[in-house]
Amino acid sequence: MLKKVEAIIREDKLNEVKEALKEMGIVGLNVFEIRGHGRQGGISLVGRSGSYQVDLLPKIQVNIILSEQNLEEVIDAILRSAYTGEAGDGLIFVLPVEEVIRIRTRERGHDAVMYPGDIDERKGRITK
Ligand SMILES: Nc1ncnc2c1ncn2[C@@H]1O[C@H](COP(=O)(O)OP(=O)(O)OP(=O)(O)O)[C@@H](O)[C@H]1O
Ligand SMILES: [Mg+2]
Repeated sequence: MLKKVEAIIREDKLNEVKEALKEMGIVGLNVFEIRGHGRQGGISLVGRSGSYQVDLLPKIQVNIILSEQNLEEVIDAILRSAYTGEAGDGLIFVLPVEEVIRIRTRERGHDAVMYPGDIDERKGRITK
């Protein structure tokens, strides 16, 4: 079973999160620059003409398609590397993935998200 992790994190935590994922053998990922708000609805900033509300704050969305067996480990790594303890640390969404197809080889499913030296290969897992 393939899953998608969408981690919404602070912009200044991207490097730490990327490093943590790389260290554990997560190879494929992509990143969006997004804007949004959580339960505080944004933040209040003080400017020259008084305070004003910024309702959409910039965040980074890290997207990873991975096999379910690596899910908890990846969540753990993100929780550790994206944490400050302050409001706005972000959220992690987990979604089921219907199919993945590598265009060059037409490999599908798990085979399409296998990479040399990745987390499964390191653990000596037979994944076919
Ligand atoms: N329900 C949602 N759906 C999609 N994106 C969301 C949702 N809630 C929050 N987000 C995105 O996640 C980001 C992180 O939100 P944030 O960390 O402020 O979460 P929170 O729930 O308010 O927790 P905290 O109290 O720690 O701030 C938001 O800026 C927004 O981009
Ligand atoms: Mg918040």
